[in-house]
Amino acid sequence: MTGPGGCDWDRLREAAREAMTRAYAPYSGYPVGAAALVDDGRTVTGCNVENASYGLGLCAECGLVSQLLNTGGGRLTHFTCVDGRGELLVPCGRCRQLLYEFGGPGLLLQTPAGVLPLAEMLPQAFGPEHLTT
Ligand code: THU
Repeated sequence: MTGPGGCDWDRLREAAREAMTRAYAPYSGYPVGAAALVDDGRTVTGCNVENASYGLGLCAECGLVSQLLNTGGGRLTHFTCVDGRGELLVPCGRCRQLLYEFGGPGLLLQTPAGVLPLAEMLPQAFGPEHLTT
């Protein structure tokens, strides 16, 4: 069913849950799955991938943006993220910045406080536009 922002959020969250089942999180015991819609209708997903060298762990959003580029690029329009129980999770600060690069301020995020644009989750963001002279 279509919800806020013209998105079937239940379906997108299901894709995030499925990705979460493939997470590699033996150190934190905290699997994460992320899913997003692309402006051409594709769905891209990612899961977190940890490492014995703890600081090298990759968030689920890293895998998601990698899949975005590796399957044709485009812009992210809708995003959701879940924990190991399948409950909504808000992306960490670093991942908000990752998402900003490929979705910009208008990217819609499903959060416990409702569907919000990334502009509200990462106010006054630094982005590619600041590097143009
Ligand atoms: N994690 C993500 O994958 N995405 C986030 O936005 C928050 C945190 C992962 C990183 C680590 O593998 C685990 O959750 C616990 O912090």
